[in-house]
Amino acid sequence: MTQLYSTLAEIYHEMYQHVFDYEKEFHFYDAILKTNNCHKILEIGCGSGMLARRFLTNGYDYLGLDLYNEMLDIARREVPSGLFIQGDMRNLPFDRQFDAILITGRSIAYVIENKGILDTINGVHKSLRDNGLFVFGVFDANQIFDNFSDFEQNINHNGKKIRRISHLEKNLATGWTYDWSAKYIIEKDNEISEFNDITTLRAFTRDEIALFIKLTGFNIEEIIDEGKAFTIVAKKTL
Ligand SMILES: C[S@@+](CC[C@H](N)C(=O)[O-])C[C@H]1O[C@@H](n2cnc3c(N)ncnc32)[C@H](O)[C@@H]1O
Repeated sequence: MTQLYSTLAEIYHEMYQHVFDYEKEFHFYDAILKTNNCHKILEIGCGSGMLARRFLTNGYDYLGLDLYNEMLDIARREVPSGLFIQGDMRNLPFDRQFDAILITGRSIAYVIENKGILDTINGVHKSLRDNGLFVFGVFDANQIFDNFSDFEQNINHNGKKIRRISHLEKNLATGWTYDWSAKYIIEKDNEISEFNDITTLRAFTRDEIALFIKLTGFNIEEIIDEGKAFTIVAKKTL
């Protein structure tokens, strides 16, 4: 199991402010939500609250959910006015209350079994009002599996140097799954610490997504291509 959202949660928070363009991501979701008149939203995989702040500033009725308390502690610290709850996307506790549900940061990649995916999407369906919107991004199996290559990232955050060396390997145990091992080398004030992390992620083909969506009572409205990933905009039909 990954340490990235527990032991390494602060490192994630510092690092990903330079990895993701949260401002751009917010505008991406905001445009979809506005087009579909969605105001009351749930963000699944809200992490350290970097989108939460923007949703709240822009007047959304917002709730963030994440599996890891360490991430939620940071979100509550960073966005004191935000509402965040701990939960597992495979077991959502809501009933028909949201206009839209977003799974951000491709967080569904951590749900690697078909049953878990179906439980997640069925739970999203149950949590949405009639005609509610479900927006989620996934890694594209066609892109990921066509080009497995190691990569390295170097981030400077407030005088801290974070270096991450990543290695990807096919796993294929439960679909288009792959193992991501990463070595973190962190340097601050001439002190160096190192951590190793390994986790399994799942990518999807468009056909797989179409089947999951069909089986759970949604209609795909749009698929937005993002290179190694794509985002699905789906509407609750039944
Ligand atoms: C790549 S991070 C994205 C976080 C945030 N959306 C961002 O963009 O920075 C993936 C997030 O999914 C959360 N997560 C992983 N498995 C989960 C699950 N089963 N249920 C809810 N959240 C989960 C992790 O704790 C983590 O915060």
